[in-house]
Amino acid sequence: MDYKLAEKKIKDIILKNSNILDDVVDFLHQNFNHYNWVGIYLVKGNDLVLGPWKGGQATEHTRIPIGKGICGSAAISCKTEIVPDVNADKRYLSCFISTKSEIVVPIKKDKKVLGEIDIDSDKKDAFSKKDRVFLEKIADMLAKHIC
Ligand code: SME
Repeated sequence: MDYKLAEKKIKDIILKNSNILDDVVDFLHQNFNHYNWVGIYLVKGNDLVLGPWKGGQATEHTRIPIGKGICGSAAISCKTEIVPDVNADKRYLSCFISTKSEIVVPIKKDKKVLGEIDIDSDKKDAFSKKDRVFLEKIADMLAKHIC
């Protein structure tokens, strides 16, 4: 799907104001072929705890200590992580053997990380600058609805 149109549709989902996180996860998974697994982690104490997710399989990593894995690194740096080849990144916590690349986008409010959008792709180097810009906008929209 075109990123601008997706942005508009996600704005509409958020305006409807019901199950926002679940609906945005479903939308992203359904409309972008290279988003094979989509999940939202929320910060609880010193951990990232998995909230809604959509994909072929459940992950064993439902609670990730901040600092561990790609997710935990992004929570510390407060910056988007794009990993073009997960097998070449020592930090990577493996969930699915099919995953080749990953993007993790912090959801932050006043420079404090509240959670993250985590997307795995079965394609190597699947995530472009367009994905980053788009998902950072979605993360900003979601930040307003997470307390
Ligand atoms: N690969 C992540 C763990 C979460 S799964 O991708 C769903 C990481 O390295 O933090």
